Amino acid sequence: MEKRNPATDYVVIKAIEDGVSVIGLTRGSDTKFHHSEKLDKGEVMIAQFTEHTSAIKIRGNAKILTSLGEIESEMKK
Ligand code: TRP
Repeated sequence: MEKRNPATDYVVIKAIEDGVSVIGLTRGSDTKFHHSEKLDKGEVMIAQFTEHTSAIKIRGNAKILTSLGEIESEMKK
């Protein structure tokens, strides 16, 4: 296992509308959804990339903060 840096691996997701999904995708040779979390407006989730989670998909309008910067997700119109 390569070293992780918990100080930079945290991801903050704040829902801007009801029903935002935060979906965890598995690490390794097959990439599958393993967890889906629903957030309502104003709710915040603080998550990490882990041994089990290599990617996070966000559906719906949310503000996302990572060590890379800040971005907003939105639904297509
Ligand atoms: N059991 C999962 C893990 O340790 C929990 C998890 C961590 C998760 N980060 C996540 C779930 C991001 C969804 C999105 O990997």
